[in-house]
Amino acid sequence: MHPGSSDALFWTAAFNGIKIVIYVAANSNCMFTILTGAQFGDEGKGKVIDLLAENYDVIVRFQGGDNAGHTVVVGGKKYKLHLVPSGAILGRRLLIGPGVVLNPHVLWDEIQVLESEGIKLDLGIDAKTSIIMPYHIELDALREQARTHKIGTTNRGIGFAYVDKVAREEVQMADLTDPDLLEAKLDEIGPAKEKAIADLGGDPTVVRHSPLIDEYLQIGLRLKERVADVSREINTALSEERGVLAEGAQGAFLDVIHGTQKYVTSSFTTAGSACANLGVGPVMVDNVVGVIKAYITRVGEGPMPTELTDEMGSRMREKGGEYGTTTGRPRRCGWFDAVLGLKSVYLNGYTELALTKLDVLTGIDPLKICIGYDLDGESIGYPPESTGMLARCEPIYEEMPGWTEDITEIKEYDDLPQNARAYVERLEDLLYVEQVGNSIAAVSVGPGREQTIFRDEAADQKI
Ligand code: GDP
Ligand code: IMO
Ligand code: MG
Repeated sequence: MHPGSSDALFWTAAFNGIKIVIYVAANSNCMFTILTGAQFGDEGKGKVIDLLAENYDVIVRFQGGDNAGHTVVVGGKKYKLHLVPSGAILGRRLLIGPGVVLNPHVLWDEIQVLESEGIKLDLGIDAKTSIIMPYHIELDALREQARTHKIGTTNRGIGFAYVDKVAREEVQMADLTDPDLLEAKLDEIGPAKEKAIADLGGDPTVVRHSPLIDEYLQIGLRLKERVADVSREINTALSEERGVLAEGAQGAFLDVIHGTQKYVTSSFTTAGSACANLGVGPVMVDNVVGVIKAYITRVGEGPMPTELTDEMGSRMREKGGEYGTTTGRPRRCGWFDAVLGLKSVYLNGYTELALTKLDVLTGIDPLKICIGYDLDGESIGYPPESTGMLARCEPIYEEMPGWTEDITEIKEYDDLPQNARAYVERLEDLLYVEQVGNSIAAVSVGPGREQTIFRDEAADQKI
């Protein structure tokens, strides 16, 4: 936020009785916004980032790896992105932060595909970004096979790459640009990796003798010019009043601390981690946007209290195209869970929510919203901390009437059927946290950019 700028609007809000003046830059180009998924991933972050990217100069990915699959649809053309930030299509400065785990092969392929379609990428990769090595992928597969209770990982080596980051045994982006550095690193950490793979019954030669290592080095050399200091770049951009949008992957309940452990990914997916991962102070944050689906989906194992294993679940899956962008696995579908939703607002401090895929609910009557859980005979309104307890929760629903009109071409909020508006507004009430003052600022009614309804002028300016 830039209170000194002459084009700032004034907003006032009362928190705990204290009147606070909030400045919102009228020119939304000078702000730092963090965007994250509010559920179990696949909320439609790619679409919303692509849409918002127009208002920002820099788009930066702050965590996760190619386990993410973000779909952006522009002019009827579909782009599936795993590592390149979703602002790619608009030609913004794109950054991959040091909190990401990066498979160079996947990134290189993605660059090639986008550039072959005429999209010129201005991409920087932080020198400290951890590299997903072939042995991480091998370990991911071997460990998952050996587990009695599987996680259902994407098998991209994500967890083991993060283990090595924390264990201070990672290969970083900068190491890939120098064959001597990489060789020295592999000599140092290789034997322990070989032992770990052999212990799980795998082939230890993948550690130092995989043909992929040469390929990685060649890609590293080609990417050398793109190696960047992301923290410095973002802070410089903000000091020059250029806008920065931090793009999260996965979703709140896949967070390695706050999610449904152990059925989570291995990174911090909530908004607070953007500052830590990118090396930007929390005082720089202006907005936190949450992307949330009008129902809920999950891929992989782990509890999801409102899961529908019946005909209704299949109907949502088929109508919503709910198949994994990365793995093609069918996504589990269920009714909107406002109990988890409220926790997500707390975890992230969302100032704005973008509600996606409202069109998928057209024709369903009645609609159900989970407003509480029955846990061992007791009614609760907030999710229990323990994953085992969450798995025992039975949803308590309220019902709302549906609508039958096609809403995919609607541009103005007031033109939505009354029951659709009532549904949106009921979710907004259930997710409201006074201290944050959040609202549903945008409603998405289809995959295309133009299939987005901004609730009001103020919301349009803010997100
Ligand atoms: P992400 O991982 O959060 O970026 O989400 P994905 O791209 O994996 O999955 C969301 C899917 O829903 C993509 O295929 C999008 O094109 C699509 N999508 C996004 N918003 C809407 C919407 O409002 N309606 C419909 N029908 N599809 C949408
Ligand atoms: P986007 O960014 C949905 C899930 C996997 C698995 C668990 C752990 O597209 O929303 P991992 O490979 O990360 O160790 O797998 O996390 N998962 C996702 N589910 N969307 C994603 O990303 C996901 N990334 C990981 O299915 O259950
Ligand atoms: Mg996805």
